[in-house]
Amino acid sequence: MPDRTPYIAANWKMHKTVAEAAEFVDALLPRIAATQHDVVICAPYLALSEVVERSRGSAVEVAAQNMHEAESGAFTGEISAPMLVAADVDAVVLGHSERRQYFNETDEALARKVPAALAAGLQPILCVGESEEARDAGQTEAVLERQLQADLAAVEPERLAEVVIAYEPIWAIGTGRTATPEQAQEACAFIRDVLRERGAIADAVRILYGGSVKPANAAELMAQPDIDGALVGGASLDPSDFAAIIEAT
Ligand code: PGA
Repeated sequence: MPDRTPYIAANWKMHKTVAEAAEFVDALLPRIAATQHDVVICAPYLALSEVVERSRGSAVEVAAQNMHEAESGAFTGEISAPMLVAADVDAVVLGHSERRQYFNETDEALARKVPAALAAGLQPILCVGESEEARDAGQTEAVLERQLQADLAAVEPERLAEVVIAYEPIWAIGTGRTATPEQAQEACAFIRDVLRERGAIADAVRILYGGSVKPANAAELMAQPDIDGALVGGASLDPSDFAAIIEAT
């Protein structure tokens, strides 16, 4: 089976000034000096360069939280993939449920954003996940399949393994209500099956779980065979908590 290096990502959302980001990185780096994991910080745009500079030579990679699909153009307020690459950013979160819910991010746009990120040399971290209503209605797999098929429609099968998928059930995000390891495993295994059917080398794809991951529950989630890492929101704002999650996995 291809090696799937554990991938632990901090999604800061709209938190941290440049100075606070610098303080975080300085506190985190000594704690993770020996890690073998891929550690990723998804910072607000303004703090990206600071995190890039402070983390050079460490295990930390840096991700943006969104991008526009065009290379440049009259899109006031937007940031493109080539701009991120020029700032030495490594990856980009796409399709987070908060962007789908509050900023009208659509599967049509994501179908352009994911290949645009790959073409520019950014690793896409594509988020998918069902609402509570969808889960209660037995629609979890249908929602995941629809999102994956739509958002990855224009990605060549041989490049699918470069996409990191984050399974984030909406009902577990920021609620303190974590999916059970069994629920998370079931969904991540299903996602891997969908990718396999799309022609991916599915055993090489990193699939993360996100939704109220904390130091206390990280180990049992990561112990599941199809969960290869975590996308951590609230608990990633404190360097000790985030380091503890990395150490627990
Ligand atoms: P949370 O957020 O850990 O605060 O639930 C996760 C996410 O939205 O990526």
